[in-house]
This record gives sequence, C-alpha cells and structure tokens, in this order.
Amino acid sequence: MSRILTGIQSSGRPHLGNILGAILPAIELSKEPGNESFFFIADLHSLTTLKDGKLREEYVRAIAATWLSFGFDTSKNVFWRQSRVQEHTELNWYLNCFTPFPMLANATSYKDKSERLSEVNAGLFTYPVLQAADILLYNANIIPVGKDQKQHLEMSRDIANRFNLQAGEEVLVLPEARIDERLMTIPGIDGQKMSKSYHNFIDIFLPEKELKKVLKKIKSDSTPLEEPKDWQQDITFKLYSLLAAPAQVEEMKANYERGGYGYGHAKQELLDCILTKFDEPRKKFDYYMEHTEELEVILKAGEEKARAVAQETIQKIRKVLGF
Ligand code: ADP
Ligand code: TRP
Repeated sequence: MSRILTGIQSSGRPHLGNILGAILPAIELSKEPGNESFFFIADLHSLTTLKDGKLREEYVRAIAATWLSFGFDTSKNVFWRQSRVQEHTELNWYLNCFTPFPMLANATSYKDKSERLSEVNAGLFTYPVLQAADILLYNANIIPVGKDQKQHLEMSRDIANRFNLQAGEEVLVLPEARIDERLMTIPGIDGQKMSKSYHNFIDIFLPEKELKKVLKKIKSDSTPLEEPKDWQQDITFKLYSLLAAPAQVEEMKANYERGGYGYGHAKQELLDCILTKFDEPRKKFDYYMEHTEELEVILKAGEEKARAVAQETIQKIRKVLGF
C-alpha cells in the first residue's frame, strides 16, 4: 500500500492551472486501489505571503470546495487543514535543527521568491522545512507535485536522512516525489505560466458573465477575421485543446486554418466548453461555498484522522530527541 500526500497553499482561489496540473491528477492517483491519500490545505505556508486572515479563511474554503467538487473521496482518505494539527509546527522546529543553513540559502524557489517579493521574511526561508514536516509526519511514500517542487522534495529526503542517522534507525520514511513529466504547464491569459502571482489566471468557478470577461482578455494577435490563423501560437486554442474532446479540437483547428473565424468565436467556444465540462463541479463548488458548515464538518473529521497519525510519529521523534 502506498501513502500519497500532497498539499496546496491557501494563497488564492484554485485556478485552471492548479486544477489540471495538481488537483485532478492527485484525485486520479487517490482512486488507484491500494492507495491511501492524505491531502491537506497548507494554510500555514500561505502565511509566508498572505497576512490577511479573512482572505485566508475564504481561500481555505475555496480550496476545500474545489477538492470536493472534483470528487475527492474524504471518507476513504484524509483531508484536513494543516494549521489545525499542531504537530506540523512542532516537527518543523525539530527539523529546523537538522537542516543545514546553506541548503536553504541555495534553494531556487527561495531565491526566486526573494527577488520577486517586496517583503522577504524568515518563514519564506524556512518554508521547505515546514514542507518536510508535513510529509514526514505522516510516513508518506509518494508526493505528487509540480516540477517546481522537485528541490523541496530532495530537501525533505535529505532532512529525513539526517534525522534517521542521528536516531540510528529509520524513524522517518523517505518520501518520493511523483512528478508527471507529461503534464504540461497550463498557460495563463497572457501566455506565461498560469499563476496566482502573475494575475493571469482563469478561475473556472466565476459566474458566467465574469468568466466571459476574463476569457475576452486572453492575448491574441491582430490577424484580421477573414484570414487564416496560426493555431499553434494561439493561447485560446491551447487552452481549448486541453479541455475539449479531440473531434472538437480538430474542428477548431480547421476553423483557424480556413479563415473567417475570429478569436472572439474561439473564446466563446472556450467559454461554452468550460461551462459544459465543469458544469457539475461548478454547481458543487457554489453549493459548498454556500454551506461552509458542511466543509467544516468534513475538515474536522479529517483533522481527527490526521492528528492520530501525526501524534504517533511525534511521540517517536520526541523519544529519540529526549524530550
Ligand atoms: P501558483 O503558481 O498559482 O501560486 P501554486 O504554486 O500554489 O500555484 O501551485 C499549486 C499546485 O498547482 C502545484 O502542484 C503546481 O505545480 C500546480 N500548478 C500551478 N500552476 C500551474 C500551471 N500553470 N500549470 C500546471 N500546474 C500548475
Ligand atoms: N510547497 C507546495 C506548493 O507550493 C505546497 C506544499 C506544502 C506541499 N507542503 C507540502 C506539497 C507537502 C506537497 C507536500 O505547491
């Protein structure tokens, strides 16, 4: 049996990139027989960049609602808020003391973030240690993540190794990253990687009118309506091809090549495709956002299951360290 674990920061509402690149593949993995999944909302990590508590609460709910809308089975698996299981922060401290300073200083994601952000706090620096705690607390075997997380996973293994060396036995399980190389980076409306931080994302849960406005902003070239268009370079086409059925994609391709088909048409088709494909998740999402008390019940039940596992690991660790 493999224990799968992953987390998503509550630093924004999940966008199409998060859904196609992380949430759906993780849910697929969770359905494989013999797998047991531990998925959590990394709200402590979000504090490194988001200080507003009201917003955090809203994002936590939106992330929870997204996992549930796409059918994550929380009765068979474990689903919780990181901040509610205090063992994460306790283990974070222990692991801090097993983490070489230069390892953190050389982390590429820290370097990237510290160049981009106006405020560089210590939490941003020790971010990978808390991530290691998230993973090692639950003896997780497989961690599905995006390519950008590869180095963080190597650090988790390294930290676990150092701890085990001290303990003289394999107290902590070495996790393995599962990076699906086939998964492409979903482009945002400006053609760059879709990301919360670039404000180029598509929130598929927006009401139809607002969603339409966002899709209208997708960058395109100025080829006149009558002329044929290069679908290979077009962002609307790329997004459509990720969502639509192969026959529909071929049809759009032919429309581009024929001419007399404008980007406005393509964007309308993309909108229709999103509304049809995500009809059920959109309805469920709205339902959960209106019944947040149901989300709370689900997260609370998950929290209890998570805590039971976390406490067992923490007891072993305290023993090794003489606390
Ligand atoms: P963001 O860049 O919006 O802040 P996160 O870093 O919080 O997104 O990513 C959460 C998860 O979603 C990660 O596993 C990441 O790999 C995945 N993800 C984010 N953006 C994309 C994208 N544009 N294409 C594919 N996967 C993505
Ligand atoms: N750092 C991850 C990201 O930005 C989120 C995360 C926090 C995580 N803790 C984790 C992912 C543990 C996997 C396992 O996407």
